Amino acid sequence: MAAPASIKTFESRMDRGMKMKDEEKLYKRDGIIYSTIMSPPENLDALKDFEGREDDVFLVAYPKCGFNWMVAIVKKIINASTGVTVPERPPIIEFYPPQLQQVVGKEPSRRLLGTHLPPNDIPESFKAKKTKMLVVFRNPKDTVVSYYHFMNKNPVLPKTASWDKFFSDFMAGEVPWGSYFDHALAWEKHMDDPNVMIVTYEELKENPPEGIKNVADFFSFPLTEDQVMKITKETTFNAMLESSKNSHGNFGNVFFRKGEVGDWKNHFNEAQSKQMDEEFQKKLAGTKLSAKMKYDYYCQ
Ligand code: A3P
Repeated sequence: MAAPASIKTFESRMDRGMKMKDEEKLYKRDGIIYSTIMSPPENLDALKDFEGREDDVFLVAYPKCGFNWMVAIVKKIINASTGVTVPERPPIIEFYPPQLQQVVGKEPSRRLLGTHLPPNDIPESFKAKKTKMLVVFRNPKDTVVSYYHFMNKNPVLPKTASWDKFFSDFMAGEVPWGSYFDHALAWEKHMDDPNVMIVTYEELKENPPEGIKNVADFFSFPLTEDQVMKITKETTFNAMLESSKNSHGNFGNVFFRKGEVGDWKNHFNEAQSKQMDEEFQKKLAGTKLSAKMKYDYYCQ
C-alpha cells in the first residue's frame, strides 16, 4: 500500500534534515529559536493572516509535553463523536507552508489545529474568535529529558553536544520554541480563562479515562462510557507505538520513546536537580499552574 501523502511529506522533511549541516538546522527570530525545515520564516510570516474560527479544536503544548498523545486522543474523540476522520497531517500550524495555510483556511469546520507557539505568538484571530484552547503541560524535568533524546533522534534538529550542554541550553531558553518557563508563565495568566483548559501529562497518565472525558466535554463532543474506554485502550503508549508505523512511517520511535513519568531521575545530577528546583521556585512558586503540575510530587 502506498504511504499516505502526510507521511511522504514528513519523510521528505526528515530526508532533508539528514542532508543538511547541523549548524543550518536552526535559526533565530525575535530572540526565539525555530527549525529551518519545519517552521521557516515564510510559515511564521503567513500565520499573521491565518483565520482562526470559534469552533476550531485547538491544541497547544510546549515541545515534548505530550502533544502527539493528545492529538491522537482528540482525533479519536472527534471520530467517535461525529464520524468525521481528521486529516492525517500533523496539526501544528507553524509547520504549514503559506500554500497549505490557504488550503486549511478553506476546509470545513470543525478543524483540528495546534501549535507549540506561546500564547502571545498565536495568530490574533484565534483570540478575537475566542477559540477554545487545550494546553498540555508536563513537569519540566521529564520535558527536558524527552527533548534531549528528541534532538538526538530527529534528523531535522541538530544533535546535542552532551546532556549537560542541552540541560544548560534548556534552562537558558536556547532551544527550539524558547523557554519552557516563559511559556508556563504566559499560560499561567490564562488559568481562569473559560476558553482555555490546561491539562498535565501526569494527570493524563494517572487517569486516562477521566482525562479523555474532560477533553471531550471541553470541546463539546459527547462520548459514551464505552467510547471513552475504547479510546483509552487505543491511546496507551504501547498501542500508539505499535500504530506509529502507520502514522509516522519509519520515524515512530522518534516520537514514542518511553512514555513514563520520572525518567528524569536517570539523567539529572544533584546540581541540575537543584538548579531546576530553584528556577521553578523563582518563576512559578505559588501559581495556580504550579499547583496543577504537582511539582513537589513529580520532581522531588
Ligand atoms: P518520552 O520522551 O519521555 O518518552 P510530544 O508529543 O509533545 O513530542 O511529547 C513526546 C513525549 O510523549 C515522549 O515522552 C513520548 O514517548 C510521550 N508519549 C507519546 N505518546 C504517548 C502515550 N500514548 N502515552 C504516554 N506518553 C506518550
